[in-house]
Amino acid sequence: MKLNRGKSHYNVAVIGAGGIGQDHLASFKLHPAACVVALAEVSPARGREAVERFGIPELVNDYRTLLARADIDVISIALPNYLHAKVALDALKAGKHVMLDKPMATNARDAAKLVAEARKRGVLFMVGQNFRFNLETQTSKRIVDKGTLGDIYHAKTSWSRRSGIPRIGSWFTQRRFAGGGCTYDIGVHALDRCLYLMGEFEAAAVSGQTYAKFGPRGLGDGSWGKSEIDPRAPFDVDDLSVALIKLKSGRTVLLEASWAAHGPLADSNSTELFGTEAGLSLPPVQVFRQTPTGYSIETAKPLPPLVNTNRMVHFIDCLLGKAEPFVKPSESLAVQKILDAIYASASSGREVRVR
Ligand SMILES: NC(=O)c1ccc[n+]([C@@H]2O[C@H](COP(=O)([O-])OP(=O)(O)OC[C@H]3O[C@@H](n4cnc5c(N)ncnc54)[C@H](O)[C@@H]3O)[C@@H](O)[C@H]2O)c1
Repeated sequence: MKLNRGKSHYNVAVIGAGGIGQDHLASFKLHPAACVVALAEVSPARGREAVERFGIPELVNDYRTLLARADIDVISIALPNYLHAKVALDALKAGKHVMLDKPMATNARDAAKLVAEARKRGVLFMVGQNFRFNLETQTSKRIVDKGTLGDIYHAKTSWSRRSGIPRIGSWFTQRRFAGGGCTYDIGVHALDRCLYLMGEFEAAAVSGQTYAKFGPRGLGDGSWGKSEIDPRAPFDVDDLSVALIKLKSGRTVLLEASWAAHGPLADSNSTELFGTEAGLSLPPVQVFRQTPTGYSIETAKPLPPLVNTNRMVHFIDCLLGKAEPFVKPSESLAVQKILDAIYASASSGREVRVR
């Protein structure tokens, strides 16, 4: 994908200045060829605080005014999930390069429209799967690609929190705004990282189950997010989910995500790959294998990253033609299809075929 159109500088507008919008703003500042020229935020207080803190020249309430500006090249979206597809589609239709935070959308149908529109416009479109950019993930990928593990036939991947529900009563815990709970919110990271390392995104079938055992009782709050809370809003999303995913090749992935659960660790994520010659887990990156003298467990030294470890810096590097897009829209669509299938399987009680 050749993107460099001779520009040496990119003007960025960020939409949403909540918990992660602040990270978008800070991250673009790290690239000398990027400048955040505007912010759209519906909360006047959060908007004012962010433009002051990050020195942004313009604050608007309606993001559409930014899409109309010819001097803005990049739109970076940090909005509640239900707005992802709509705002990203508007931005792509306006010919902007789009960095969209995860999850891609609240259903695969909408996600597919984004993939098609980005392709049609020839712009850069990336979902901000930050786990992918971690040095541990990139080191692991190098080890996998060397063939150290042999054939990877199975994997386990998880993100589990004991008490980490983004604030109860915020949009995160309402299905109409979030689309789903911990599966969309943190399962997406664990799954994306695992499939990336396995080098296969397309699933054949998914069997999943979801639970909501803490949130509906007002337990397990983790205080993430800056949006307002509605104390009367129902908690109608999942706070734990599990799935058995069969990939098209026949390989399997066990996914587990929990915002709240009685578990051994307060907050932990891990991906374990099982190969014919060795196994690998991260973080930290460890390789397990049989040697002539016994069983070896080796902690891998960090290897040079494949791309910049900051996703926004990488995004601008792609625009400059210095890097190839690390998270591809087709991969994010495949992840979305699997997450949707987990919910479909949980509600039907059956294994769901993925198309
Ligand atoms: N990549 C990550 O690690 C990561 C981490 C946290 C959140 N996220 C994702 O980022 C998104 C935002 O999460 P958050 O934690 O920042 O939520 P948040 O509730 O803290 O912030 C959302 C912000 O969007 C603003 N907003 C809502 N509607 C708007 C509109 N129409 N125009 C402009 N602003 C609007 C809200 O006022 C709020 O300030 C979510 O989709 C979440 O899943 C990603």
